[in-house]
Parts: sequence; C-alpha cells; structure tokens
Amino acid sequence: MANLHIINHPLVQHKISLLRDKNTGTKEFRELVSEIAMFICYEATRDLPLKEIEIETPVAVAKTKVISGRKLAFVPILRAGLGMVDGVTALVPAAKIGHMGIFRQPDTKEAVKYYSKMPDDIAERDVIIVDPMLATGHSAVAAIDEIKKLGVSNIKFMCIVCSPEGVDKVREAHPDVDIYTGVMDQGLNEDKYIVPGVGDAGDRIFGTR
Ligand code: URA
Repeated sequence: MANLHIINHPLVQHKISLLRDKNTGTKEFRELVSEIAMFICYEATRDLPLKEIEIETPVAVAKTKVISGRKLAFVPILRAGLGMVDGVTALVPAAKIGHMGIFRQPDTKEAVKYYSKMPDDIAERDVIIVDPMLATGHSAVAAIDEIKKLGVSNIKFMCIVCSPEGVDKVREAHPDVDIYTGVMDQGLNEDKYIVPGVGDAGDRIFGTR
C-alpha cells in the first residue's frame, strides 16, 4: 500500500494556516503555495539516489555525493498545480515539466482530461504530480492513469491539503503511488470542496472569480 507522508514541519503548518485565512490576498496566497510546495518537495525527494564523486576543494580532494540515477519530471495538474511549479523547480532546477489539463465536470465532479504535454523522454523519468488540493481524488487518479500509460513506473503525488476520501481513492486505484501532503482535513462538503480547506485554490492563486 502506498504511503501517506504528512509533512508536519512547523513552517509548513504555519504557512498552511495563512493559506486557510480567507483574508489572505492573491499575492500572498501565491507565494505561500510556492513556498509550501518547496518544503514538501524537500521531503518527496528524500529518497533520490546518490553516487560518490571526487571534487577538489581548495584544501584537498573530497569524496562527496551528487544526485544520480533517473531524472525527474514534475507534472502540475492545471490550473492550480501551476502554483507549485516555482517552488519545486527552485529545489530541482534540472527537472523537466509536463502539463496535464484536467477539469472537474461541475455536475458529476468527474475528471475530464483536456490537455497533456509531456517531455519526450517522460518514460525514462521519475514523475512527481503536483496539485495543491487532493479532494475527490478523481483528477489525481486520472492524471496518474495518463502518466502510467506513457510508460512511467515511478510516480509520486504531492499536494498541500488532502481529504481522507481523496487519499482512499488514490490508494485504491494506484497503491504504488506515495502521497505527500502538508495536512489531511476533515472531508468534503456537498460541492466537493475540502472542509475546512482553503477554498478554490486555482481561483485564489490566479485571482479569478
Ligand atoms: N479544489 C480546490 O481548489 N479546493 C477544494 O477544496 C477542492 C478542490
């Protein structure tokens, strides 16, 4: 069964509290999403393989370590996932970025894919899908389905707030995909928003509505 990693770091918890506040404006909300994404990414990349190399320091030759092995791609789920890209690429600048457009059908809340553009070598990369809100899990499952179809074998899912329903849904459909989140909330309301959540993350990042 996939692991659920809740990043209980005080800085993450503090920043999520600021995100929740309905009085937090677009600029600050956007900055917070990016910063929290960076902290969660730090944990999600904890198992990256290392290899030993030698580097000459001004004093001596050092046996030291660098990241090795398969390369990484981040895949934000449009639109809100875009808000996490700056933060994660600040940590892993060499990563490539794929884009996955999925929208929630307003009546059924089902996930509909409308766009996908991935790096050519995606099958050779490990993939971390990013979306601030894991609510019903429909978009997450649809995104993971699509990325698996492209031949990717190592996928992680990163969000900032999740619901128990979303976690169960992803775990049921994709037990091999670890989930990294800042917090798990109570559940979903009748409109499938996370309670208490942060509201509509896409609207708050981009200042729409
Ligand atoms: N998407 C959001 O932006 N917020 C929610 O609470 C659920 C889905």
